[in-house]
Amino acid sequence: MALLEVLNLTKTFGGLSANQDISFSVQEGELVGIIGPNGAGKTTLFNCISGFYPVSSGKVIFNGKNITALKAHETARRGLARTFQIYAASGDLTVIENVMVGCFMRTRSRSKAQAAAEEILNEFNLTGIGDVFVGELPVAVQKRVTMATALGSGPRLLLLDEVAAGLTPNEIEEIMANIRHIHSHLGIAVMLIEHVMELVMKVSDRVMVLDYGRKIADGPPRTVAKDPEVIKAYLGERFVREHQEML
Ligand SMILES: Nc1ncnc2c1ncn2[C@@H]1O[C@H](COP(=O)(O)OP(=O)(O)OP(=O)(O)O)[C@@H](O)[C@H]1O
Ligand SMILES: [Mg+2]
Repeated sequence: MALLEVLNLTKTFGGLSANQDISFSVQEGELVGIIGPNGAGKTTLFNCISGFYPVSSGKVIFNGKNITALKAHETARRGLARTFQIYAASGDLTVIENVMVGCFMRTRSRSKAQAAAEEILNEFNLTGIGDVFVGELPVAVQKRVTMATALGSGPRLLLLDEVAAGLTPNEIEEIMANIRHIHSHLGIAVMLIEHVMELVMKVSDRVMVLDYGRKIADGPPRTVAKDPEVIKAYLGERFVREHQEML
């Protein structure tokens, strides 16, 4: 049984179809990248899956249960965690307090939440800055704190929306290490929206491509990167020429 199954999902805003008849599934422990031009409907898809937006039609099945009508806090309790494209972490909380907010989803005990948060900080190489206010940290580190916070809730599926946007190559390496840890070491399924192709092509088992609200490709990264429709809609001929070694 797939961990997540999305069936004919459509989301309209007025006359605009932000997601149009999208179907796919994600297996337990799989890492699926999502790419596509600005406005293609990637973030909307996360919003619909996680219950931040009601779908217009279609179904979302998670862990065998129909979660289509559930609100965000309810999907989170069932093991679906996410980060946000724009919102970073809570700047007026410290790093450990942020991560504890996630941990309180699975325990009411302050000491247990703290212990769990400390373990995650350790796994994310964030020890030593637990008491720093998040707002004082570089954006790259803030992004890693949002991932750590999402992880704190104990998810089976983690949705990451552009965690590498605007970061330097070194910072991207650090994020990539965190993502690999979540996926390979903790065995958590990940869906990741990303414009940074070096990251998405390297870490994904599978890549899905959206364009104008529709899914236009879904397959192994190398296959997708050679798909003429994907090259035309998003990657561009130049990308393919300049990244032969990656593909
Ligand atoms: N709350 C909303 N109300 C109205 N229109 C919306 C809303 N959210 C998204 N849209 C529209 O839906 C379309 C898809 O937007 P979405 O944010 O999902 O794109 P995206 O693929 O995440 O783009 P980007 O790469 O720029 O983040 C866009 O045309 C956008 O303007
Ligand atoms: Mg987006």
